[in-house]
Amino acid sequence: MQKIIEDHKLIKIDNPVPGNYILTLESPVEIPHILPGNFAEIKVPDAPDVLLRRHFSILDVDYDKRLIRFYVKAIGKGTQKLGSLAPGTKVSLIYPLGNSFKLPKPGESVLIIGGGSGIAPFILLGKALQKNNNEVTFLIGGRSKKDILLTEEFSEYGKVLMTTEDGSAGETGLVTNHSVFNPENFSFNKIYTCGPDPMMKAVGRIAIKAGIDCEASLENMMACGFGICLCCVTPTKEGNKRVCWEGPVFNVNYLKWQN
Ligand SMILES: Cc1cc2nc3c(=O)[nH]c(=O)nc-3n(C[C@H](O)[C@H](O)[C@H](O)COP(=O)(O)OP(=O)(O)OC[C@H]3O[C@@H](n4cnc5c(N)ncnc54)[C@H](O)[C@@H]3O)c2cc1C
Ligand code: FES
Repeated sequence: MQKIIEDHKLIKIDNPVPGNYILTLESPVEIPHILPGNFAEIKVPDAPDVLLRRHFSILDVDYDKRLIRFYVKAIGKGTQKLGSLAPGTKVSLIYPLGNSFKLPKPGESVLIIGGGSGIAPFILLGKALQKNNNEVTFLIGGRSKKDILLTEEFSEYGKVLMTTEDGSAGETGLVTNHSVFNPENFSFNKIYTCGPDPMMKAVGRIAIKAGIDCEASLENMMACGFGICLCCVTPTKEGNKRVCWEGPVFNVNYLKWQN
């Protein structure tokens, strides 16, 4: 797959709620085809104490305008710095990296479950599923209403359900407590999930029990991002696999963490 290693110009930075940022960057060259699930390595500018590039799912792409978007949730030095950048800053990006989600057959119904920064790969996936004529339901989970982002964008590609732990939006509880999992409603052909590990594991267990094909996009901590340092490995039924290289998307039946 053709890779881009280029300085991109930060065009816009939106801050829908404190600590959450949507970065729009302009590429100096044509953007290669991006598959849903691909990620990028971002060099945090003007941050000598953030040595390694940080890893982010590609949120969306406008090929005509050469724009690429990322959702950044500030949790540490690198992400806080990215959230404080001024428009016009040049940011070095490497992408597209990693594998991608496999699409189901046209017409099949799909449940997409995201939590935290794990919602990021699902705009591109929603677009691809819409083109593939799939019936899409998004289920987004957060601690409270302010943690539920991008619902308007998701609603362009499917039905949007929510859960919040404090009950301030959608149903109360964890995503896996949502009534969509009640046996009388629960009839999907495929499930996709991305978010905190315990959430993905719980979703994976439900999918396996129900016999529904399920893919999870893992966000293991990474260093090189190119399959060399082995710091991102996850156990699978065929031994340890590199999340940055063989992943980040894995079928849950293949992962060892389901056992
Ligand atoms: C494939 C992939 C895609 C990702 N996509 C997104 C995205 O779209 N949006 C987004 O906001 N974030 C995403 N992340 C997570 C993001 O890379 C980390 O939040 C970021 O590297 C943290 O950098 P930092 O310098 O702010 O934090 P640091 O100062 O390096 O760390 C702060 C704290 O966060 C912990 N931490 C760091 N990285 C991770 C991680 N990957 N998982 C869990 N805990 C971590 C550290 O242990 C530490 O406790 C993704 C990660 C991967 C591997
Ligand atoms: S981050 Fe180095 S091998 Fe995956």
